[in-house]
Parts: sequence; C-alpha cells; structure tokens
Amino acid sequence: MGITIRTVGVIGAGQMGSGIAHVCSLAGFDVRLHDISEERINTGLATINGNMARQVAKEVITDAARREALERIQPAPTYDDLGACDLVIEAATENEEVKRKIFTNLCPSLRPDAIVATNTSSISITRLAAATDRPEKFIGIHFMNPVPLMQLVELIRGIATEDPTYESAKEFISKLGKTATVSEDFPAFIVNRILLPMINEAIYTLYEGVGSVDAIDTAMRLGANHPMGPLQLADFIGLDTCLSIMQVLHEGLADSKYRPCPLLVKYVEAGWLGRKAKRGFYDYRGEKPVPTR
Ligand SMILES: NC(=O)c1ccc[n+]([C@@H]2O[C@H](COP(=O)([O-])OP(=O)(O)OC[C@H]3O[C@@H](n4cnc5c(N)ncnc54)[C@H](O)[C@@H]3O)[C@@H](O)[C@H]2O)c1
Repeated sequence: MGITIRTVGVIGAGQMGSGIAHVCSLAGFDVRLHDISEERINTGLATINGNMARQVAKEVITDAARREALERIQPAPTYDDLGACDLVIEAATENEEVKRKIFTNLCPSLRPDAIVATNTSSISITRLAAATDRPEKFIGIHFMNPVPLMQLVELIRGIATEDPTYESAKEFISKLGKTATVSEDFPAFIVNRILLPMINEAIYTLYEGVGSVDAIDTAMRLGANHPMGPLQLADFIGLDTCLSIMQVLHEGLADSKYRPCPLLVKYVEAGWLGRKAKRGFYDYRGEKPVPTR
C-alpha cells in the first residue's frame, strides 16, 4: 500500500497549477501553493477564487464549499513550506531545465515518504525522475486544461516508479472524482501525442494560406464536430506549451512529421502566447476575440 494523501503541494500557480489547487481543495485536501514569487502565488489564488465564484453562480458548488476550500489553500513561498506534503505536484513552465532544477532543490525539504509528481505534457517521466532523490516515488499525473472541467487525468509511470506510488496516485485521482488512464512513458503520452500534431497541422494550414484563422476553426468545429477550433484550442493551451510539446515529439521520436510549424515558432518569439498573453491566433484585448490573420 502507498501512503494516504492528505496534504498536496502544487509548484507553479499558472493555468494548470491553480486548476490543480482548485480541485484538490474542493475535494478536501489541504493544499500548499508555490511559485517563483508571492505575487504569482497571489495571482493564482485570485484565479482560483474567481473560478470558484463562477461555480457558485452556476450552482455547481455552494458558497460554503468555496469558502472552506479557499481556507484549505496556503501560500508556500519556499520549498520548506512544502515539508508537510504527502504529494507534491510540479506544474511549472514546460521546460526540462526548469523542472529538473525544481526537483533537485525541492527534494531535501520533503519527507522521505512523500510522493513527487509532474504535470508535464510531454517530457520523459523517467528523465525527470532522475533529477529527484526518489525515482521510485515519482510519477506523471497529467491533468487536462481547464482542470475543474476536464474529467481525464493521465497517469504515467517512469521506469523506476513502484506499485505503491502508482496505487496512491490512482486513489488520489479517484478522490478528485476524475478518471485515470494509464499511459507508457513515451513523448507526449496519449492525449498530446494525438492532439498536438493535429494543432500543428492546423497551423501549417494557416501558414500555407489554405485557410484563414476563422475558416480553419469553423471548418473543424462544424465539419469535425470539435467543440473548439484547433487554433482557438492552441491559444487556450498556450502557444509556448504547444511549441514545447512539438519539440519534444520531434526530438523524442526523431520523425520529421512532428516538425513544429515555423509560424508557431514566430508567434512564440513575438510573445503572442495565446489567451494568457491576450494575443495569439486571436486578439483577446477587446470584448470579443478577433483573428490575428
Ligand atoms: N496549458 C495546458 O493546456 C496544459 C495541460 C496539461 C498540462 N500542462 C502542463 O502544465 C505545466 C504548466 O503549464 P501552464 O499552462 O500552467 O503554464 P503557465 O505559464 O500558465 O504557468 C506556469 C507557472 O510556473 C511558474 N514557474 C516557472 N518557473 C518556476 C519555478 N522555477 N518554480 C516555481 N514556479 C515556476 C510560472 O511563474 C507560472 O506561474 C506545464 O508542464 C505544461 O506542459 C499544460
């Protein structure tokens, strides 16, 4: 049997980290939220508060549940503030160097029996595990965006992940009311291995002038019954994250079919990272999103 998880640390209070803290606190877990500055932690907390308020307005949760959940989330400006955690989920920027550094510096502050997980969309779990002092207690717990709405969580075992770690993670996901699928540790796992090449192809379609942003998104919404067009989805995921996943697929599988579209690279270089930067394939600064091409 693995350890029972009661207190969850979350590293990175961006889109995903705030979503993970949100669902954990609503499910009754104590949460410690860490980011590179108190300001970022506070921004994350404000996002969580706003998203929970929306759930109250939609009668998904009660106002009492929102207040109780918010009280369960504590800011954790230092790694020592994560010392009491049974599980720490890393949800920082999708960059291997950044993540490796986090794990190396984090581990000395943790209890020896604490589980360490990563929310990476694509980076090798086995490689990240090697940056910790506990590869057998390391696992990929990959949430989908937006975390409060999406039912799936991918669980990815590294080569050294032991059964009790996997069992604890599975039980944790089920306590969140979510469904886990198991994926092998190959670049981008299941969902993004299939989804990102589709998004990259949509960007090539735009790059080659086959269609406009609006035509491509409308075509896939109405022609393939996708709830969101691929370019809208790319903006939603974050174009930096999309590029990073394509690079991992390209390098990890050494197949030219995963070549990141040069237009995606250009948007990222421009800092047009999608919704979070208010500009990507759409401009979000006005009342309604306006296509940028
Ligand atoms: N966006 C998605 O759709 C999605 C879906 C599933 C998984 N993911 C994965 O989740 C992770 C986070 O993505 P996101 O969309 O939340 O990105 P984001 O840019 O919204 O947030 C990243 C956060 O990490 C923080 N950060 C950076 N370096 C840090 C460090 N050294 N220590 C602590 N915090 C640090 C940043 O300040 C920022 O707040 C990535 O690994 C990404 O691949 C993203």
